[in-house]
Parts: sequence; C-alpha cells; structure tokens
Amino acid sequence: MIELRNVKKRYGTRCALDISEFHIEQGEQMAIIGPNGSGKSTLLRMLAGTIRQDEGEVRLGNLTHGEIGYLPQKPYAFDFSVQKNVELALQGEHQSKHMAQVALERVGLEHLKNARANRLSGGETQRMALARVIARPRKLLLLDEPTASADIQAMETIECALLDYIQQTGCTLVFSSHAPAQALRLSNMTLALDTGKIGEFGETEQVLHRPQAESTRLFLRHWNV
Ligand SMILES: Nc1ncnc2c1ncn2[C@@H]1O[C@H](COP(=O)(O)OP(=O)(O)OP(=O)(O)O)[C@@H](O)[C@H]1O
Ligand SMILES: [Mg+2]
Repeated sequence: MIELRNVKKRYGTRCALDISEFHIEQGEQMAIIGPNGSGKSTLLRMLAGTIRQDEGEVRLGNLTHGEIGYLPQKPYAFDFSVQKNVELALQGEHQSKHMAQVALERVGLEHLKNARANRLSGGETQRMALARVIARPRKLLLLDEPTASADIQAMETIECALLDYIQQTGCTLVFSSHAPAQALRLSNMTLALDTGKIGEFGETEQVLHRPQAESTRLFLRHWNV
C-alpha cells in the first residue's frame, strides 16, 4: 500500500529523513518509535502529503485524499464548537451531525460537543482532532503521537476507539509513539528510526523485546516492556 524508495527530506542542510527502501502492507498496524528528532513526524507528514520529499519516491497505492486520515502532533482547533470542528471532516455527508456525535462519543468527548474548541485543553484538543479523523471510514490512518497529551483513562479510551475502528474498517494504521507498551497493544510491526534512518524494522514483539540494532537497544534501555 505504501512504498518509499531513496527518500530524502532536508530542512536547510540537515537531512531529517533518509530511507532507501520501505514498504507498508495494506491492513498492517505499524508503530514508529525513536528519540526526539529522529524523523517520526517528518515521515508521517510526508505520507500525509503535507510536506514533500526532496529526493526519491513516495507511493500511496490508489488512495484519494479523503481516504487518508492524518492526526498531526499539534492538532489545530477552529474557533467554533467541538461538534462543528468534527463536522468539518464530514462535508458532503447528509448524516454529518450524527456521524460527528458518534465519533465524539468514541473518543469520550460528547460532553464537550458544544464547547468552544479553541478553549479545550491539550488532551481534549487531541481527542477532538482524532474524532475528526475517525468520523468517517478511511483506508489509511496516520497518527502522530495520538495519546501524547492524554491521561491514563483517555489513553485507554483512545486505544479502544482505534482498535474498534480498525476492526470495523480494516484500515491500515501508521502511528508514532513514545510508549513501547502502546506499540505492543496497537501494532504488529514496528519501525525504529535512528537519526532519520531505519534503525530497525520488524515484528513489534521482536523489535521491542529482542532488538537487534544497537540504536534500538540504546533507545529502549530505560524502558520495562
Ligand atoms: N520545519 C522544520 N524546519 C527545520 N527543521 C525541522 C523542521 N521540522 C523538523 N525539523 C528537524 O528535523 C528533525 C526531525 O524532526 P521530527 O519532527 O520529524 O522528529 P520527531 O521524531 O517527530 O521528534 P519528536 O519525538 O520530538 O516529535 C529534527 O531535528 C527537527 O529539529
Ligand atoms: Mg514528532
């Protein structure tokens, strides 16, 4: 479904991403892990099409724009109600109001549907933005740290919502996370980035419990997974 070949992305003279070859299969659930600045958001932004690579090719099967749901690391809230913010993702749907409400329920935010979106807390804004992403069926979800600002209960709500959504839609999931335990719960494959390069790629269980690359071992050394 997703294919990258000889992809490079530079910011100024600094190369933030350098991936010679990589595939993500349809229906796969893939976690991206790696230290701050290792290129996780850059890779997700590139797959979402919000930035373009400087070199190489990124192929995304035959997906249309609406079939891809992207959650940025710092989601944006428009200055109207939470409900309206979610309905924005549902333009053209005659059931948009109902669909938005279902999505807000899934992320546990229905009690705030009439609140002004730009006054939400960080964790609430993130959940609202996720509701926008899962309000309609997608073929590919690209989620940049979907639970970074969530408390433990919200994290559980979000993870359950995602697992249900994947089961119902059969969509492909690519997400970044700083929590190896979350990678174990939500993914079958894990990509460990090391300063913009593939440090290691393999089954999540293997990468987290028996890392082969020295960079992955170093990255995971403080974690008890
Ligand atoms: N717009 C930009 N302009 C200049 N440099 C950038 C820009 N975006 C990212 N970078 C740099 O590119 C590198 C990769 O950044 P990226 O945001 O992809 O990292 P990340 O793995 O998502 O980190 P984090 O865990 O902190 O979210 C970093 O060194 C960052 O400083
Ligand atoms: Mg990031």
